[in-house]
Amino acid sequence: METLTEQDRGNIGRAAVGPVLSVKNLQVQYTAESGNVTAVDGVSFDIGAGEVFGLAGESGCGKSTIANAIMRLLQTPAKITGGSIELAGRNLLDLGEEELRRTRWRDVAMVFQSAMNSLNPVMTIGDQIVDVFTTHEKMSKQAARERAAELLKLVDISPDRLKSYPHQLSGGMRQRAVIAIALALKPSLLIMDEPTTALDVVVQQEIMHQIKELQQRLGFSILFITHDISLMVELSHRMAVMYAGKLVEVAPSKTLLDNPFHPYTNALMGAFPPLTGPRVELIGIPDAPPNMAHPPTGCRFHPRCPLATEACRTIEPPLLPGAENHEAACLLVPGYVVPRERSRR
Ligand SMILES: Nc1ncnc2c1ncn2[C@@H]1O[C@H](COP(=O)(O)OP(=O)(O)OP(=O)(O)O)[C@@H](O)[C@H]1O
Ligand SMILES: [Mg+2]
Repeated sequence: METLTEQDRGNIGRAAVGPVLSVKNLQVQYTAESGNVTAVDGVSFDIGAGEVFGLAGESGCGKSTIANAIMRLLQTPAKITGGSIELAGRNLLDLGEEELRRTRWRDVAMVFQSAMNSLNPVMTIGDQIVDVFTTHEKMSKQAARERAAELLKLVDISPDRLKSYPHQLSGGMRQRAVIAIALALKPSLLIMDEPTTALDVVVQQEIMHQIKELQQRLGFSILFITHDISLMVELSHRMAVMYAGKLVEVAPSKTLLDNPFHPYTNALMGAFPPLTGPRVELIGIPDAPPNMAHPPTGCRFHPRCPLATEACRTIEPPLLPGAENHEAACLLVPGYVVPRERSRR
């Protein structure tokens, strides 16, 4: 698979290189006695081949729910109630258990939130990697051991560490081992859900650098999830900002950084200043995200938005192009015109 050139990266728009993943109108509900929560409400996005796509938003906005829906790992009380998730043209929602088992890890793999604690504490790192190969591929133990050593080298861990138990590795090394395991079967899409949040800033930077380097060398696509928008901008080609179950802005990362359209994106950027460069004041976002059992009418961000107008309380703005390759869901974007059928709701 080819990696992107600098030029591709600058020009990348919606699936410019052909989508590896295409999520359309995804809807996920959690059933609860206190009322159903639509945690993901009509989310659509594409990820191109070799593209790093970021998904940012505050805690509880639905990021992990999207990731788990793509992996088809959602369990009761969660249910996918609408939409489609196509991976290389196949709708994952139509697959049976056996097909899913073959697709998971081979075509799409995931590094989970708090992944470094997801290693088995009583198995050596080597045995855990060998397990992945022997479970999913017809491979001898010896061949699997050799592949495991190569994989560790890929993430700058000495093959001596194959004999180590997770507790004998630093947090950063454990996280690298988890990334190596996720890449074992060469998936075309890697989902990373907050892969570095539990690590200190220096180790976080090193791991981010390594992910970027691996992605450029191997050319897989990434869905990178974080609440830290500044971290995301460093890694992703394009990104989406999510608020209360909906995408509110999608654009190439640099465009989004230089010229955010949505007041929520602006607020989120103020809350997470850049990792590098001069110190800037942290500006929190006032109040908390809404209770998802009873989301606000109109634009879901309006109760916290410093720019909200009367119309924002009643009209729910869909995600629409505000400029080339730049979509936003905000009535205040210059030139934004709500389609007629929406404004009558
Ligand atoms: N097991 C559950 N039962 C009921 N509702 C749930 C459950 N898990 C999640 N939710 C609902 O789904 C919403 C989205 O949760 P999700 O874990 O996807 O958020 P997130 O964006 O990944 O947050 P974080 O940044 O904290 O990981 C929550 O706000 C909550 O309302
Ligand atoms: Mg999460």
